[in-house]
Amino acid sequence: MSTHPALPARNQRPWWRDAVTYQIYIRSFADSNGDGKGDVEGIRSRLPYLRSLGVDAIWITPWYPSPQNDHGYDVSDYMNIEPDYGTLADAERLIKETHDHGMKLLVDIVPNHSSDQHVWFQQALAAAPGSPERDRYIFREGKGANGELPPNNWQAVFGGSAWHRITEADGKLGQWYLHLFAVEQPDFNWENQEIHEHFEEVLKFWLDRGVDGFRIDVAHGMVKAPGLPDVVAADPKAEMLAPENRPFWDQDGVHEIYRKWRKILDSYPGDRMAVAEAWVSPASRIARYLRPDELANSFNFDFLSSPWEPAELKKMINRSMDALAEVGAPSSWVFNNHDVVRSVDRFDLGLLAGNANTTLERHGDAKKFDIARGTRRARAGALLMLALPGGAYIYQGEELALPEARDIPEDRLTDPRWEMSLRTDRGRDGCRVPLPWTSLPIGAFGFSSDANREPEHAWLPQGDHWGKFSVEGQDGDPASTLTMYRQALAIRKSEAGLGDGAMTWIDAGDDVIAFSRPGNFACLLNFGAAIELPAGSEVLLSSNPLVGNVIPTDTAVWVRLSVG
Ligand code: NOJ
Repeated sequence: MSTHPALPARNQRPWWRDAVTYQIYIRSFADSNGDGKGDVEGIRSRLPYLRSLGVDAIWITPWYPSPQNDHGYDVSDYMNIEPDYGTLADAERLIKETHDHGMKLLVDIVPNHSSDQHVWFQQALAAAPGSPERDRYIFREGKGANGELPPNNWQAVFGGSAWHRITEADGKLGQWYLHLFAVEQPDFNWENQEIHEHFEEVLKFWLDRGVDGFRIDVAHGMVKAPGLPDVVAADPKAEMLAPENRPFWDQDGVHEIYRKWRKILDSYPGDRMAVAEAWVSPASRIARYLRPDELANSFNFDFLSSPWEPAELKKMINRSMDALAEVGAPSSWVFNNHDVVRSVDRFDLGLLAGNANTTLERHGDAKKFDIARGTRRARAGALLMLALPGGAYIYQGEELALPEARDIPEDRLTDPRWEMSLRTDRGRDGCRVPLPWTSLPIGAFGFSSDANREPEHAWLPQGDHWGKFSVEGQDGDPASTLTMYRQALAIRKSEAGLGDGAMTWIDAGDDVIAFSRPGNFACLLNFGAAIELPAGSEVLLSSNPLVGNVIPTDTAVWVRLSVG
């Protein structure tokens, strides 16, 4: 297969066709003021680390003022910085210094819903039914003789009904409002022009401050089907990996919003962009977000939710690249983020990363977990991802092969999913535990500037074993995962044939995924019994030690093929 035959050379095309972007979950990255929560200055202090890792861009999860019911995805002011994380001046300095280090910076934008503490929602609660204030959100009368039943059968992603009934100013139970996520996250009404205007202003606010783009939260959710019809399905759950035909996902109207946003992005210099978090499938539906007048990237969640199985992975890769080639867009590969079980665990336990998974599916059987095998697979998967055409998104800690934290005590769980699932789903805290920077536990393994802060007193507790994954412990160790990522990213920069562009599958048997890229570069990932390296090839990098000329199971290699 060959994609984008007319693609200009790498230094002449937009950076987002090839970039490796590092996702920073701000609360868990680095704590500069000793309060046990990460912050903007913490990120700034670690820019040299990110630069030495070799990523092209960073994406920062929501840093806006927020009551933190969903750790920032419940925004109360879109044009400011959460006081726990710093100030607007800190943010401006970070943007500038990120650029000085040669990296781009993306911020998260959350347009589907606000916090219930947003001034607009507070005004809506205080105003009467039918008022302009209520019209900024989705308020409806209930069904039943006294309006005691929710307006329709939609279920929230985190569990339970997607509707919440309010008490009106007169003290009586009144209207219901829609929240596809937590109760504290009321959905905006995108049929109201004021919402459009507000978010256009928000985009310009951050573009004026120099950000290079946006990650759009729930990008497939803002527009709801007219009349808010019931879900006609046996199971009306609002899963993020929802099939088609859900009246709250992937409606045609969202594309009009992105056409307008694209014009705003294009009105600024320097290839500003947006990446969609759109849990839609099949890949042809994702491609619709990437038409030339819409968004630049969309996370490839099919890839993220595929099992560790060569035929399946290959099918997903083909499907994604074929669909995106139709609209001339690059793929955006992703194996980890702050919503899914970390790949070290997932690949070992055969878990799929759907957001709707139950506790057992999400967390698997801890007794069966083999961390050595999981780590081997995660490393091999990384080399596969970084060799494929397009860009890639990596999640903090992925470069350290951090496993999922399975030992967080129930009384420390903070994800709203835990309570909303009636404590049947432990939620996503396990992939959000603060990073270990040092091997010793001082200052929560170097996460916090407060040397007296103990690992269990970081905002989410770190286990005693956390230090063994630390940056300090891996730095300079030729066998470490950190070193492998640094080497892979350096090779990616120097190989003109990597990033977006052509690839050709190589047939190396059913247990192997193999393909070449321009410049006689090839990637081979062996899932089965040991195989031989291609004759005469030179090894550039391998995810695990090779035994002579042999690629062991669960190992990926990058090679230069012999031309003779
Ligand atoms: C997707 C975000 O990635 C997730 O963390 C959040 O809970 C939901 N959107 C709601 O904003």
